[in-house]
Amino acid sequence: MKPAYRLALWLTKKSLASATILASSGSRGLIRGAQRSSAWPEVWSLQVRRGVCGVGVEEGGEEEGVMAGGEEADGKKPQHRAGKKKGGPPPGPQAEPTILREGEADILLHGNDVFYNKAQIVNRDLSIAVLRAFAAKRQEEHEESLAKKASRKSKGASAVNGKENGGAQEESASSAVEGEDAKTSVSGSEVKGEDQGVEMKEETSPSGKAEEEAAAVVAAPVEAVLESKIAKPLHVLEALAASGLRALRYAKEVEQVGSVVACDNDKVAVEACERNIRLNGKVALAKVTANHADSRIYMLSHEKEFDVVDLDPYGSPSIFLDSAVQSLSEGGLLSCTATDMAVLCGNNGEVCYSKYGAYPLRGKYCHEMALRILLGSIEAHANRYKRHIVPVLSLSVDFYVRVFVRVYTSASAIKESPSKLSYVYQCVGCDTYHLQPVGRVATRQGSTRYMPGTGPVISPDCKQCGKHHNMGGPIWSAPIHDADWVDGMLRSVTAMKSRYPAYNKIHSILTGVSEELNDVPLYVSLHSMSATLKCTPPSATLFRSAVVNAGYRISGSHANPLGLKTDAPMEVLWDIMRCWVKDHPVKENSGETPGKVILTKEPEIEANFKKVQSATSKALASGVARFLPNPEEFWGPKPRAGRHLTSKHIASYGAAFVNGTLRAEGKPPIESPAAGDGAPDAKRQKVDE
Ligand SMILES: C[S@@+](CC[C@H](N)C(=O)[O-])C[C@H]1O[C@@H](n2cnc3c(N)ncnc32)[C@H](O)[C@@H]1O
Ligand SMILES: [Zn+2]
Repeated sequence: MKPAYRLALWLTKKSLASATILASSGSRGLIRGAQRSSAWPEVWSLQVRRGVCGVGVEEGGEEEGVMAGGEEADGKKPQHRAGKKKGGPPPGPQAEPTILREGEADILLHGNDVFYNKAQIVNRDLSIAVLRAFAAKRQEEHEESLAKKASRKSKGASAVNGKENGGAQEESASSAVEGEDAKTSVSGSEVKGEDQGVEMKEETSPSGKAEEEAAAVVAAPVEAVLESKIAKPLHVLEALAASGLRALRYAKEVEQVGSVVACDNDKVAVEACERNIRLNGKVALAKVTANHADSRIYMLSHEKEFDVVDLDPYGSPSIFLDSAVQSLSEGGLLSCTATDMAVLCGNNGEVCYSKYGAYPLRGKYCHEMALRILLGSIEAHANRYKRHIVPVLSLSVDFYVRVFVRVYTSASAIKESPSKLSYVYQCVGCDTYHLQPVGRVATRQGSTRYMPGTGPVISPDCKQCGKHHNMGGPIWSAPIHDADWVDGMLRSVTAMKSRYPAYNKIHSILTGVSEELNDVPLYVSLHSMSATLKCTPPSATLFRSAVVNAGYRISGSHANPLGLKTDAPMEVLWDIMRCWVKDHPVKENSGETPGKVILTKEPEIEANFKKVQSATSKALASGVARFLPNPEEFWGPKPRAGRHLTSKHIASYGAAFVNGTLRAEGKPPIESPAAGDGAPDAKRQKVDE
């Protein structure tokens, strides 16, 4: 007798938080389907809690799969998953859902039905850290605006007090009306806070200036007492939600999040998300809503509504950017991932141009260039709607880039956009690069003028090696992080260490970012320069010391352990290397190589390699890690949901992943990669397509 497994979720009306695990064949135990599923114990802890979800085992049932509770009650047949053949063979005995816990959220997984990549835990943890920082910032801004309002009222009241009685009566009447409004808004916010599980904080002084506050209370007692000092809870859109894991973590782990819409255009994913919402109990049910829609249309029809929009697509986010920048509220936060690194780093430059409007270059700095191309593209989309971005954190991690930017509206501020963008000239011989700003801003006697950039910043041939240049960009060449945010996040993440499953990795990334020179785009590679000259490279400490001794700043880059960011001109860097080679001669090599041409020139400065403390990374000196190895093999992208996995996927995703997925889908594992296995890499059709 072939058993089929069926999961049913019950939510009692009285207590939504408690549901019961049922095993219709009692002897099989309560959580047969749940498996510990990772070799990374710091990150994963499976907690199948009694009273949260149900895994039932039925004998002789024909249908397998996970059903939403409501469907059963309606008497509707559960939907077959897209990507699974209707009427196909029943699943084998291994077809079991797995329950995974990440942070405070649990999700049910079933093979490759819905996208899930555990490597993205770093991405989700970082996003939660940024979300917490954003909530704190919004609170600060809210308090500042209250203080300003109060001070305006206070000034207004003094002026009115100086007037005659008639005026005073007018003031008191308008005060009463405003007081009523304020009252309504306060009670509304109280109800919201309770409903949405938002913990109310103790009221603090908005401005820190006691006198100002006191004056405001005297002048406008009703408003000051009644107006909420707690900023509105955050309204979040996870536009590409898959299982809803990220949305659930935001809702459960960030107290200031009031509501999350988890959107996906794949019906299978939306159903899974709905189940996961129920699985996660009261807070999740109150805050998270699954939504089946094309998120581009959804965002366009919710203009300026979301405080946070999260884009975490397969590959490129380019098609979502235009609607995302429109759906953010003023000062809202856009969090955006791109995993199409090959495109962003210079394979098929023309594809990158078509998606992002910028040409990538295959430089050693390509990971930071990728970030800057994405930022430039978001800015371009924002500018179309008189909006502009302010990056708070921009990261190159593992196999993707992730940027966090705030979006503001200002017709005058967008005039500065061209001055925040640059083209990049890169020599094809020695990789020397120069930035060519697209625009300039000049302020004289209080008036500001916006002009095109002047150039070219290079001569036709490279001054170092005589070769020609390639031109890439435009890229975002203004700062990519907000230093205050980064410092605050590092402090907060350290203080809440236990709340971040990938703490070690996110701490190392933020440490790397905190040491970066924020006003220097891109970076050089000491190894690449040494390879051009065919010399043994100096140690990073010696090279960095020589740069500092020459009067410039230098730092590492979070995007590349070998990357060095410096405000020293390329001429100075090559001179330092020329001086190094004088003391560490290279073998004569034949031909006019770029390295040879560079070394024929005499250095114009005399490099001083004496070690200086300020040249070393503080983190390195104090033993704080900036780069960590991946915790396991195949720590990379994962296949799209619904994709039929074959032996050819083993090379990319590992046998453990492929066979684990197949087993969970009730299919036999693949023994070994078969050369030339021509099995089709079938895609699931979207329900709506
Ligand atoms: C990489 S997965 C998202 C993973 C998820 N954010 C997480 O952290 O686990 C991308 C998801 O986007 C969905 N998607 C793709 N195009 C979409 C569109 N136009 N509108 C809504 N969802 C879309 C896919 O169905 C898929 O579930
Ligand atoms: Zn050159």
